[in-house]
Amino acid sequence: MVSYKELGLVNTREMFAKAVKGGYAIPAFNFNTMEQMQAIVQAAVETKSPVIMQVSKGARKYANPTILRYMAQGAVEYAKELGCANPQIVLHLDHGDSFETCKSCIDSGFSSVMIDGSSLPFEENIALTKQVVEYAHQHDVTVEAELGVLAGVEDEVAAEESHYTKPEEVIEFSQKTGCDSLAISIGTSHGAYKFKPEQCTRDPKTGKLIPPPLAFDVLKAVEEKLPGFPIVLHGSSSVPQEYVDIINANGGKLPDAVGIPEEQLRQAAKSAVCKINIDSDSRLAMTAAIRKHFAEHPEHFDPRQYLSPARDEMKKLYIHKIVNVLGSNDKL
Ligand code: G3H
Ligand code: 13P
Ligand code: ZN
Repeated sequence: MVSYKELGLVNTREMFAKAVKGGYAIPAFNFNTMEQMQAIVQAAVETKSPVIMQVSKGARKYANPTILRYMAQGAVEYAKELGCANPQIVLHLDHGDSFETCKSCIDSGFSSVMIDGSSLPFEENIALTKQVVEYAHQHDVTVEAELGVLAGVEDEVAAEESHYTKPEEVIEFSQKTGCDSLAISIGTSHGAYKFKPEQCTRDPKTGKLIPPPLAFDVLKAVEEKLPGFPIVLHGSSSVPQEYVDIINANGGKLPDAVGIPEEQLRQAAKSAVCKINIDSDSRLAMTAAIRKHFAEHPEHFDPRQYLSPARDEMKKLYIHKIVNVLGSNDKL
């Protein structure tokens, strides 16, 4: 049993309370590689931002659970080395799918876990979430739960018809489970294709897709039911057009990729939304930088030559999100 406290990590309780009160959101950046971890820490230190470094089940498989845990510990030490006396770094399990996965993460140094029972019937979601909360809280680990299903690109339904969180369920759910934060569905989805072209309108000048707006009425209704309770938004990448263009101009193929406009995320960050999940944008930044580098330097084959600009681009992206979208800068 390794406690996250020994690793210098923190749970989300205090940072969420401050974020809700202060009208900003904590960035939750997914990571799988050393370069992503370095870029996240550099960005958080330079902007004086708390940060959640999150790891999916797929990331654990890709990078190895033990290595990821030591990387998180390394992230704390690296932040100190970069001059941050008191880094506020959370190691979070993203989309935990079972009690066993959550327990394994808690036992190996995670300070926060998500149990994603959103695809289960309401009562089963409550029972599973409660089981995880009971174990997690014994170790002062915080728990994110989810109600409502994020639309998938494969869905045959329009975004408005996807399984938005039902505000009338949130009080019973949070009281019965004791969860510390709640991910809700208001029209975001995972990946770089958040809406099908037929769900969007087209900008007549540029021909680019304009996605439908998020369901802020659902968010408002949830906030009214649970005043001050920490709300989480998944699927919050904006899919920057400049990255998509660089990728497509250099041998990539990402037709009609579309994300959530930053203006809407800025609006969400000012509300009870206090954690915003971003993964795809970092993938796009990395891929754009690498494709551009290879187009300009076809003779290069040392990974450091193309991973350095990729790391710099991700850092630039993370700083932009922190300062211009989430507003979590200058909070340490
Ligand atoms: O929610 C999904 C995250 O972007 C993680 O994705 O399962 O491919 O690591 P992944
Ligand atoms: P994006 O695919 O929009 O980056 O969402 C990431 C996410 O929600 C991770 O849980
Ligand atoms: Zn997610």
